[in-house]
Parts: sequence; structure tokens; C-alpha cells
Amino acid sequence: MLLQLSTLTLLLTSPILSTASPTINADPSFPLTTGAGGWESAYQQALALVSQMSIPEKVNLTTGIGSLGRCEGNTGSIPRLGIPELCFQDGPAGIRPTDFNSVFPAGITAASTWDRELLLQRGLALGAEWRGKGINVALAPVTGGPLGRNAAGGRFWEGFGADPYLHGAAAYETIIGWQSNGVIATAKHWIAYEQETWRNTNSGGPGAGYPFTLTNFNNTYTLSSNVSDRTMHELYMWPFAEALRAGAGAVMCSYNRINGTQACEDPYSLNHLLKTELDFQGFVMSDWGATYSTIPAVLAGEDVEMPGGDQWFGQGLIESVNNGSVPETRLNDMVTRLLTPWIFLGQNNGSYPETNYNGNTLETYNATTGEVINEHVNVQDDHAVIIKKVAEEGTILLKNTDGDRGLPLTNVKKLAMFGTDAGANPKGPNYCQQWIPGSQLCPVGASNNGTQAVGWGSGASLFPYLVDPLAAINERASQEQTFDVEWVLEDWPVGDSWATINATAHRATHCLVFVQARSGEDSDRQNFTLWDNGDNLINTVAANCPNTIVVEHVVGPVLMEEWVENENVTAILNAHLPGQESGNSLVSVLFGDVNPSGKLPYTIAKSADDYIPIFGEYVNDPQVYFSEELLLDYRRFDALNITPRYEFGFGLSYTTFSYSDLAISGSVSSGPAATPGEQNAPGGFPSLFSTALNITATVANTGDCTGAEVAQLYLGFPASANEPPRVLRGFDKISLCAGESGQVTFPVTKKDLSIWDVYSQGWQIVQGTYDVYVGASSRDIKLVSNFIVA
Ligand SMILES: *[C@@H]1O[C@H](CO)[C@@H](O)[C@H](O)[C@H]1NC(C)=O
Ligand SMILES: *[C@@H]1O[C@H](CO)[C@@H](O)[C@H](O)[C@H]1NC(C)=O
Ligand SMILES: *[C@@H]1O[C@H](CO)[C@@H](O)[C@H](O)[C@H]1NC(C)=O
Ligand SMILES: *[C@@H]1O[C@H](CO)[C@@H](O)[C@H](O)[C@H]1NC(C)=O
Ligand SMILES: *[C@@H]1O[C@H](CO)[C@@H](O)[C@H](O)[C@H]1NC(C)=O
Ligand SMILES: *[C@@H]1O[C@H](CO)[C@@H](O)[C@H](O)[C@H]1NC(C)=O
Ligand SMILES: *[C@@H]1O[C@H](CO)[C@@H](O)[C@H](O)[C@H]1NC(C)=O
Ligand SMILES: *[C@@H]1O[C@H](CO)[C@@H](O)[C@H](O)[C@H]1NC(C)=O
Ligand SMILES: *[C@@H]1O[C@H](CO)[C@@H](O)[C@H](O)[C@H]1NC(C)=O
Ligand SMILES: *[C@@H]1O[C@H](CO)[C@@H](O)[C@H](O)[C@H]1NC(C)=O
Ligand SMILES: *[C@@H]1O[C@H](CO)[C@@H](O)[C@H](O)[C@H]1NC(C)=O
Ligand SMILES: *[C@@H]1O[C@H](CO)[C@@H](O)[C@H](O)[C@H]1NC(C)=O
Repeated sequence: MLLQLSTLTLLLTSPILSTASPTINADPSFPLTTGAGGWESAYQQALALVSQMSIPEKVNLTTGIGSLGRCEGNTGSIPRLGIPELCFQDGPAGIRPTDFNSVFPAGITAASTWDRELLLQRGLALGAEWRGKGINVALAPVTGGPLGRNAAGGRFWEGFGADPYLHGAAAYETIIGWQSNGVIATAKHWIAYEQETWRNTNSGGPGAGYPFTLTNFNNTYTLSSNVSDRTMHELYMWPFAEALRAGAGAVMCSYNRINGTQACEDPYSLNHLLKTELDFQGFVMSDWGATYSTIPAVLAGEDVEMPGGDQWFGQGLIESVNNGSVPETRLNDMVTRLLTPWIFLGQNNGSYPETNYNGNTLETYNATTGEVINEHVNVQDDHAVIIKKVAEEGTILLKNTDGDRGLPLTNVKKLAMFGTDAGANPKGPNYCQQWIPGSQLCPVGASNNGTQAVGWGSGASLFPYLVDPLAAINERASQEQTFDVEWVLEDWPVGDSWATINATAHRATHCLVFVQARSGEDSDRQNFTLWDNGDNLINTVAANCPNTIVVEHVVGPVLMEEWVENENVTAILNAHLPGQESGNSLVSVLFGDVNPSGKLPYTIAKSADDYIPIFGEYVNDPQVYFSEELLLDYRRFDALNITPRYEFGFGLSYTTFSYSDLAISGSVSSGPAATPGEQNAPGGFPSLFSTALNITATVANTGDCTGAEVAQLYLGFPASANEPPRVLRGFDKISLCAGESGQVTFPVTKKDLSIWDVYSQGWQIVQGTYDVYVGASSRDIKLVSNFIVA
């Protein structure tokens, strides 16, 4: 109750309401779209359309048609006004689930590139595929929900790593690229959606989450994320602000509760934080089945119910408008928010492709009607090029040994490969995303038995082909004819298989052991251990092979202590989830055609206890207190003085770099960061994003081969700010030939220098000394300086 009262007060004094609103949308009790941020003309066109609609027509657009459509979700249509059923489809790594589309490197691999240009190119290619299939709304990317509070969170790999700045920068580029194709992108999942466990009620049923053996306990309430205002702003909202700055047309509200209220009916987070403070102009859709009411959800700010099927919106909404429980101005705003990005992105001009696949089947014809339901339109174009490049640049070299051992591979005579992850799945590339329409869940607890190149659930996509590592290495061997390839692809050797592994490892000059850890929507990881006997396999091979190279295809951090210091483990590569060109991208890095330059987008701990655990208690009303506040990932390790195995930002190269010439220019003063009286815009007041300081440094390639370095900027705030010791506030990737040097630049915005001040409810630049750290990771600091803010 209190929350709602304060919301109302804040809304009444909100500056956006003082702008002249067209009459059909005038109502001060909830935030109205204004077309701000360049959408003014599209907004006026949307209003003109809405003014011609009846109440049932308006409601039709706000309500999904359930299982009747071709897509994951479809809105109802208004044939008489030429407004079609809009098609909504997953997911962040590729279209799910149809055919003749690509599977891209997952978000976690893309983030590991720390390369804005590549992230943009990846987004462009993804968007082109959505457009080609005639999809209006992409249910992607994941932009901070989850962010990575729980390193074992089942969907961690779908997003861009456990730091709001990196996550936000990646979301920004991805959305710019995606929407350049005219496709509406969805920033998801709003908000504080950090674990799968207890995300739905009735956890015995589908969407249960951890522990996935749990079949006989029905929780009455979904998990509540209880987050303080400051943490919400500085961590969880930050990437969404970047997504809105990039123009994201849609936001998806999440399954969890926030401070006890369902995310899709929480007026404080939707009406206030998202639509007023971040000035979001597009529409809020529910996650599938995350709507729990009609009137509260609509009044709180949910605009479109998915998948719908007349559950809460539909007839219930028509009645609620007719009996005055929902003002018609609210309904007008819901429709305006849906149509404005649709018009702005040019989807209404007759040239947008019609939906040409069916998300429920790969069949061409409907068995009953004989109608063509999948035209099998090929949208892959040359996207394999960018897919391979992102996977190469996103592969992280965690350990390496100088000389003939380790990487890049030299003097290879006999290369031996171990682990099922090296090869093809005998049941096909899409076995772990079984063809259950709309499901794609990996068989619970099952071994994958093939290379892992994407996770499971709605973040997965069906492979058109999958180049596994073994296939790519065989291809290389056939070209070079300088080395032999052998393999034993078993994880749980039986019979004489251990002896075969030992003998094969023993006679090899180089051994590659492939290991994985898996997760996906619905299932958090229950531990940080490698799956399928990985630790044992590595140590056994290493005992017999003094040049053992480990390749990880994992969804997030795994414990490596069992083998990381083994003298015979000479190199470790973490390729995460590389997508369909997995083997090809790996071979480039192994043989040194490409010098690895990926950096960790999270911290790898030495002990599982160093991470914030998933909340898995059996309770009716699960509550999670984000009591660690700002201490996410490396911020936590730094503040609590925990030594990690490999820190956030870490990654090696085949060459070496030196840093020099740290310089700081510009000026800044303490106090409110935003200019008083300024007009708001999507993502927040524009002045927050103006560059206050430029920090530069020189990076030199001091080794003997070309390589790229990701230089990172961390700030240490004045002590009075109560910030973690160091926070990422810039990164710049630079490619340099041997002996070459170049400048890296970190433009620092006013928001970057601010903390969220709960009293003034604004961003404040702090008075005092800011420490400046420039380095190769969050702990490998090469240059230090400071500046004083008066
Ligand atoms: C609502 O949408 C459905 C599905 O597209 C369509 O068949 C129907 O005609 C629409 N109703 C109105 C009132 O436009
Ligand atoms: C949980 O709910 C499901 C249906 O939603 C029901 O079949 C099952 O019996 C319930 N289990 C318990 C332990 O109440
Ligand atoms: C949740 O509750 C905390 C603590 O009372 C408060 O600081 C925060 O603003 C609330 N957030 C939302 C979204 O209601
Ligand atoms: C949220 O948790 C904080 C402690 O972290 C507590 O002070 C506050 O009362 C809680 N708020 C809600 C709405 O549960
Ligand atoms: C208005 O209609 C809705 C949907 O049928 C219903 O839930 C609500 O109780 C009604 N309110 C009033 C005041 O009649
Ligand atoms: C329709 O929009 C597309 C994409 O924005 C654009 O390329 C095309 O020229 C537009 N066509 C018309 C007739 O406006
Ligand atoms: C095939 O058509 C029938 C009859 O219209 C419909 O019920 C069914 O859902 C359709 N199947 C698919 C896969 O589209
Ligand atoms: C993987 O292989 C093992 C051993 O052959 C088998 O028991 C298991 O069922 C397989 N897993 C899957 C998902 O097929
Ligand atoms: C394989 O090698 C390991 C490590 O040296 C050893 O412990 C094991 O006994 C060997 N197994 C066989 C069957 O040779
Ligand atoms: C870790 O979790 C996975 C998935 O539940 C399970 O297969 C594996 O046995 C667990 N490992 C350990 C060491 O408990
Ligand atoms: C490393 O390899 C050598 C030679 O194969 C072997 O003697 C030694 O035991 C191995 N060390 C470990 C830790 O496995
Ligand atoms: C930062 O550098 C950019 C690009 O060189 C320049 O346009 C801008 O004025 C600089 N800003 C400050 C505050 O130095």
C-alpha cells in the first residue's frame, strides 16, 4: 500500500506529464507514452490509428491469441485497419524453433569478446534472420535479467555476463544491430530475475526449476526478489537503461515477484522505474504465463499479455474497461505503445515479410488442411562468417605454457581427443533440445553425449548444421597431412576403455580433453563441478600425457581446482557456447590462425562457497533478500578479499602487451549528475550520458605476433560513496601487430561517475578522490592514477 501511494506522488510530479499530450491519451494516473526519443512522428500515426478503434479491437491487440498463431506468441489483429497478427519469437542466440536459420554464439560467448563492433555485427545478423522469417518482435536479448547474481543461474549464459556496465554495453550494440533490420527487440526479463528455482508457482509442474528432482511440492507464490533501491538502480536497471537508450521497442516482465509483488503487476517497477524514470516508450509484455491478474496488471503497467488465449486480458479486459475499472485512456496507451515502435521501425509500410514458418512444427503442410505452413525460407545468408568470428574472439585462454607445450599447437605429430564434448551427438545436433514443440528442454540429468554449442530452453535454437571440434580437426589434418588424429570419445569409460584412453594419451604428442557444464531455462545448476566425469577424465589423460590441453564448453563458471595446477595441463581454453561454427572457431585458435583475445565476463572461484547460492528451500512463499547489495561477482571478491582462481576480465594471449601514458582530461563537479529541468528520454536524462572525462592510455604489443588486447578501466569511488573497491567503467579492444602500439580511450559519462542517491532519487557525483585503474583484468592493474572532484 505504501509503495503505491509513493508511486502516485512521484508520478504526479513527473516532468513528462507536463508535455502536451494528445487528448485521447490524457490521464494523469499512470505514465503515458509521449513519443520521446525520436518516435514523435510514429507516435502521432499510432494515435491516429487508435482513435479509429473500438474497445474490442484495442483489446485484441493487447492480448495474445494463445496456441492459434504460427509463432511463439501472436497478438490479435484488426483486419479492417490493416493491422496484422504480430509475430513474437525467441530467442537470444537464434530463432527457436524452426529450420534454415543460424545458431549464433550465446550471449556469454559474445560478451567474452568485449568487442562493441562485433557485438553490433552479431546483432545485425540476428535481426536479419528474424526479418527474413517475418517475425515482428524478437524475444531477445537478455539485458540484465538474469544479470548474474547467481553464478549457477540456469539462464546466466543467455545474457552478457555479471557486470552491469559490460552487460549494458553489449545489450546496447546488440539492440542497435537487431532493430536496424526493422525488427522490434525485447529487453528482458524485467527485473531481478536471477534464478530459475521457484520462478513459477506449482514448482512440481513445468517451469519448475531447481531442484529438478522436485516433483512433489507446490509453492503458492513465486520467488520474491527483495532488492534495495540503490542496488536496483546501480546493478539490475543499468543494462535496461542502455537497452532503452538503444531504442528497444519492447520489455518483458518476468516470472518472479519483486518485494512481494508479481513483476507483471508491480506498479512501482513498471509505472515508476521503467515508464517514468527510464521513460520507456514501447510496450511491456508478460513473460509466457507471467500475468496473474487483469486489472492490477493493466493498472501496474503491463501492456500485452502473452501468450494470451483469453486468460486475463481479452474478454476480462473488455469488461474491465466497460465497467470503469480500467480507464479507456489506459487501454489507448497500451495500444499506442505497441503500435509506435511497429510504425517507427517501418513494419507497417507493406514491405515487411509475412510470417513464413510455423513454430509448432518443421513440417511443410498442415496434415489436416493441406495448407503450406512452413516455407522453409533460408535466412542464413553469410552469417557463418560473423558466427565464427565472434566465437574465435570470444574464446578465452585461461592458462598457457611457454615453449613447445601448450598453445598455439606446434610440432603436432599425434593429436588425441577425449570426451564426448569433442564430437557429434550420436542422436543429432538438436538432441539436447528435443523436438517437443516449443520446449527444447534437455532430458533432465541426461548426458549430452555430443559437443555443447548452445544451452537449452527458450535461449536455444535448432542447428542447421554443427561443426564439432573433431570434424574440424580431422579437416585440418587432411589439409596439412603433418599430424595424425586419434580419439576416444567416452566420459564414463567401461570395460577396457580406461586402458584405451591411457594408451591413446600416452602415445600422443598433444592431448585435447573436452569438458562441459550445462544448464538452461528451468534448471539452475546444482553445483559448479564439471559434468560427466570431467575432472576425472582430465586428470587421467594428464597422468599419461604431459601436454594436455583442456577445452571447456560451459554455461558459466566451473571449479577447476582438481586439475588447474596439474603440470601436464599445459593450456586451458574456455569457449563457452560457440554456436554452429564451434569446431572451426576452435581450430583457428588452437593452431594460432587467430590469437585468442577473449576475457572472462565473470569471476571463476576456487570454492563454490565463494558464490551467492541459489535459494532452494522448500517453502510456500520463497523470499530472496539481495542483502549482498552492490557486491556482485568481482565486486564481492574484491570487497571480501577472496582470492579467485581467475578474476573478472582475465584472459591470456599468444603475445604480450605493455601499458603506459595514462591520461585524464575533462572536468567534473560533484552534485546531481543530470541537468536540472531537463526533458527525460528513453534510458534516462540525456545529460547523464554526456562524456565528462576522457581517460586514455597507450597499449603496446611487446610480443612477436599480432594480437588484440581488451584494456579495461575500473574506478575506485571516494570512500564516502560506499561503493565496492573497483567498478568497471570502460573497455576498449585494440588489435596490434607485433611491436606496434596504439591508444585506448575510455569516455567516462556523468552516470559512470555517479551513485544512485535514494534521498534525492537521482544520480549524484560524489565529492572526493576517485582512483583510476587501467589494466588487463579486474586484478591485473597496469596503470594507476586519480582525480579529485570538488
Ligand atoms: C481479433 O484478432 C483475431 C485474430 O487475428 C481476428 O480473427 C479477429 O477478427 C480480431 N477481432 C477484431 C474485432 O478485429
Ligand atoms: C501439485 O499440483 C499439481 C497440479 O498443479 C497436482 O497434480 C499435485 O498433486 C500437487 N502436489 C502436491 C504435493 O500438492
Ligand atoms: C523494495 O524494497 C526495498 C526495501 O524496502 C526498497 O528499497 C526498494 O525501493 C523496493 N523496490 C521496489 C521495486 O519496490
Ligand atoms: C527487503 O529486505 C530488507 C533487508 O535486506 C528489509 O529491510 C526490507 O524490509 C525488505 N523489504 C520487503 C518489502 O520485504
Ligand atoms: C469489472 O469487470 C472485471 C472483469 O470482469 C471484474 O473482475 C470486476 O470485478 C468488475 N468490476 C466492477 C466494479 O464491476
Ligand atoms: C518500408 O520500410 C523499409 C524498411 O525500413 C524501407 O526499406 C522501404 O523503403 C520502405 N518502403 C516504403 C514504401 O516506404
Ligand atoms: C492444422 O489445421 C487445423 C485445422 O485448421 C488446426 O487445428 C491445426 O492447429 C493446424 N496444425 C498446425 C500444425 O498448424
Ligand atoms: C549418453 O550415453 C550414455 C552411455 O552410452 C547413455 O547411457 C546415455 O543415455 C546417453 N545420453 C543420451 C542423452 O542419450
Ligand atoms: C590409467 O591411468 C591412470 C593414471 O595413470 C591410472 O590410475 C589407471 O590405473 C590407468 N588405468 C588403466 C586401466 O590402465
Ligand atoms: C552436479 O550437477 C549435475 C547436474 O545435476 C549432476 O549431474 C552431477 O552429478 C553433479 N555433480 C556433483 C559432483 O554433485
Ligand atoms: C605428467 O606426465 C608425466 C609423463 O607422462 C608423468 O610421469 C607424471 O606423473 C604426470 N604428472 C601428473 C601430475 O599427472
Ligand atoms: C572526449 O573525446 C572526444 C573524442 O575525441 C571529444 O569529442 C570530447 O570533447 C572529449 N570530451 C572531454 C570531456 O574531454
